[in-house]
Amino acid sequence: MSNNTKQPSLAWPGLIRRYADYLPVNEFTPIVTLLEGNTPLLKADSLAREMGGDIELYLKYEGLNPTASFKDRGMTMAVSKAKERGADVVVCASTGNTSASAAAYAARAGLKCVVLLPNGKIALGKLAQALMYGATTISIEGNFDDALRIVRELGETGQVEVVNSVNPVRIEGQKTASFEVVDQLGQAPDFHFLPVGNAGNITAYWKGYKEYFDLGISSSKPRMFGFQAANSAPIVDGSPIENPQTVATAIRIGNPASWGGATNAVEESNGHIGKVTDNEILIAYKQLAKTEGIFAEPACAAPLAGLKNCLLNDKIPEGSKIVVTLTGHGLKDPDNAINEAGYTPAVVAPELDAVKDIIGL
Ligand code: F0G
Repeated sequence: MSNNTKQPSLAWPGLIRRYADYLPVNEFTPIVTLLEGNTPLLKADSLAREMGGDIELYLKYEGLNPTASFKDRGMTMAVSKAKERGADVVVCASTGNTSASAAAYAARAGLKCVVLLPNGKIALGKLAQALMYGATTISIEGNFDDALRIVRELGETGQVEVVNSVNPVRIEGQKTASFEVVDQLGQAPDFHFLPVGNAGNITAYWKGYKEYFDLGISSSKPRMFGFQAANSAPIVDGSPIENPQTVATAIRIGNPASWGGATNAVEESNGHIGKVTDNEILIAYKQLAKTEGIFAEPACAAPLAGLKNCLLNDKIPEGSKIVVTLTGHGLKDPDNAINEAGYTPAVVAPELDAVKDIIGL
């Protein structure tokens, strides 16, 4: 092979470089990347069959991003732009995943990171991440909405860069998930299901699908179906919730910042915003892991439970292509996993026969 034969590189360059043409970056933007994006789109035939649906079901497994949630898509953009503007400190409010991601990308960029978390309501893995990546961690005696209010006020001082999804470049990064779905499927799905918390992600997905459609890269757009947890469902219920509660702490939010983006996505796409109970979430959470070998955190089970309900109510035509985003990895939340799976080990003597007895051999 001659030296000047250029081989196509199989290496994934990270989502900013891959989708630079569609993102607000230029040659001077310092790209802060952990090679996020390019996550698998897994066909889930067994789960579709168990749900009783004659559908083509695909799972976009965002738990395989560098900090194990979809937040890395927005954070590579937010931290790159913060660095471009010469910021020294990035700040966010978070139910856990945003803080993990912000802390990692800030570390990578050499910036200081401060995270405001609702006291006691953060899944253990997410907290471990923020601490290990070296963020200054502040526990607010309140919920996510209180923390975000303070972060917005901090942003107004002009001394810090807010990297919550109220920062529009977060949405830009997150819209690349829709580009990937179309690139992977060869077309847009008929339906896209996802969990809704602060509502940035449903806003971003819809933006991405519309852009690919307007550019002629896809010939259709999906109907957007978002799901909230029953006691944290302000958009479904039509007004903010003072004291939201759910086992899916990632989406324990009473007054979503991108409320309008979510309702717009649902209206424009002829979609649906619904709610599911914690019990329905926990059933789908276990079913996903046992049926497909995919471990996702509880919030991801909200759209799966929602899909089950939609199938039962005949809301989904036969043969539909459906993508469900699994937004975060199951290892984020070991407490819920162990509580739900039930850890009652058989403790036996260190002998082969004792083990064989238990197995029944
Ligand atoms: N799924 C997971 C795993 C999340 O962490 C979040 C939000 C959502 C779904 C909802 O996405 O807010 O764009 O509607 N987590 C934020 C955080 C709030 O602070 O980590 P959304």
